[in-house]
Amino acid sequence: MQLTPEQQATGKHNFGQAVGVERREFLKSTAAAGAGLGALYFGYNKLKGKPVRTAFIGTGDEGNVLISEHPVDYMEIVAIADLRPANIERTFKGSHPVARKGLIKVLGPDHTKVQRFSNHRDLLAKKDELGLEAVVIAVPLNQHAPVAIECMEAGLHVLCEKLMAKTVTACKEMIRLAEKKDLKLAVGHQRHYSVLYANAAYLTEQGVLGDIKFIRAQWHRNNSFPKSDAWQKWDAFAKAHPEDKKLLIDMEKDGSLREFGYDNARKLVDWRLYNETGGGLMAELGSHQLDAASIFLGKVHPVAVQGYGGKNFFGIEGVGPKSAQEDTRDIDDQIFVTFEFPGKQYEQNNRDISVVTYSSMNTNRWEPYGEAVFGSRATLVMKTEKEALLYKEASKASPGGIEQRIWAIEGTNGGAALDSYETSAPATASKSGPAETVSRGYKEEMEHFCYCVRTGRNELRCDGRVAMADAIMALTANLAMKHKKRIEFKDSWFDPASDDAPETDVQVNS
Ligand SMILES: NC(=O)c1ccc[n+]([C@@H]2O[C@H](COP(=O)([O-])OP(=O)(O)OC[C@H]3O[C@@H](n4cnc5c(N)ncnc54)[C@H](O)[C@@H]3O)[C@@H](O)[C@H]2O)c1
Repeated sequence: MQLTPEQQATGKHNFGQAVGVERREFLKSTAAAGAGLGALYFGYNKLKGKPVRTAFIGTGDEGNVLISEHPVDYMEIVAIADLRPANIERTFKGSHPVARKGLIKVLGPDHTKVQRFSNHRDLLAKKDELGLEAVVIAVPLNQHAPVAIECMEAGLHVLCEKLMAKTVTACKEMIRLAEKKDLKLAVGHQRHYSVLYANAAYLTEQGVLGDIKFIRAQWHRNNSFPKSDAWQKWDAFAKAHPEDKKLLIDMEKDGSLREFGYDNARKLVDWRLYNETGGGLMAELGSHQLDAASIFLGKVHPVAVQGYGGKNFFGIEGVGPKSAQEDTRDIDDQIFVTFEFPGKQYEQNNRDISVVTYSSMNTNRWEPYGEAVFGSRATLVMKTEKEALLYKEASKASPGGIEQRIWAIEGTNGGAALDSYETSAPATASKSGPAETVSRGYKEEMEHFCYCVRTGRNELRCDGRVAMADAIMALTANLAMKHKKRIEFKDSWFDPASDDAPETDVQVNS
């Protein structure tokens, strides 16, 4: 979907207007509390007591993003652990002025207090000396469950990156252990802590969009041109860090790398490209967006999924540049899936279905990533986690569409409704809309995790059960593409007490 700057500004204004109607007053009345925006929106307070003593396990690209945004009033970083020495160094020095600032800049002189470990086991061996209470885990997907389980066995609270685990069985093990040990287990689907998404979900809950029959989510990237895939990191890594390359190859040879879950050094560095270590496009990108779609549809579980996935570009002689032809990845390079979600009346009439399509590809990035929610009253467009645009549907009584500015009025049933008026003038963003600097939710997710650890509250917005539902959607979509069939979701898969899981289901896998 390509919109002119004027149409985008109109959509932004519309969103601000619609959201502002009730939330403006709410924010004004709570602003005096002095907590941050996340606390205001998601109902937690400033932390009373000391910040939670936390270690980061896996300080690669994402670990560094989280470290840059970690909330110092809630979380004290006491240690970091990574198998790759160069990534430890980068975690101190930083590698990006905003996204990956590094501990020296973030903590100032206190960075010297942060201890370094060369893997999570050496770190856990020192947990008592460190006075460790919690860990943030940002290692490759195949190691989420093993590392999280070792940490919980050691009595630590866990905030683990998404996708929760590589299998639903492993998700269930994690949930059961956290419950048995009375530990917090949070998973990093940050849209649960994004004020923008909270506002958008509020509009859908209020019925402002009417009946939602279709959500189209996509994350299209072009990794074929002008240069090759950013997920293929080995060559650049080997060139920039020959000592790390040698270390990992030595670990590969003496078998110690295997003990950490990697057959060889390349699979540790390029983990996203291999089935053994990653979960493909659906796990890496799609899981976030299916998470959002299910929030917009009232946090319901889907009914069924089908789809096509293929390795249709990489590794084919004569197709694309030489680097693409020589690419040895396992994972599909494009996926197209269709989910059926239950509508509000589904129990009474199973034709009440909302369709969610998801696509991700590697050879075109014309459209920015996001989700478009098509309702009978309005269309909501979420763009790159940073912008929300809203357009009213036209009716006989009043115009609508992407040129129309709207305002929210009281509907006949007491909730908000939309009206619109013609304008050809470019709209400016509404002051009543969401904050200009939009947080993607990382900071709020860490704040709330620490708040729940310190207070003991069971209020995590993306706890094990919520995150397992996201994992079930992504992993079942992968099975539907693998077996080329339509798969119906079973309630027992979503129940942590049941051992049932899609990957072991005979009907699914026969
Ligand atoms: N929430 C989001 O938006 C988001 C975005 C990007 C990545 N992620 C997730 O974050 C995780 C990490 O992704 P990444 O891009 O940072 O990958 P990365 O390869 O850049 O970093 C992973 C790091 O983990 C280290 N590691 C592996 N096993 C270890 C162990 N046992 N002990 C210590 N260190 C270990 C590796 O050496 C590496 O430095 C993945 O699960 C990914 O899906 C989430």
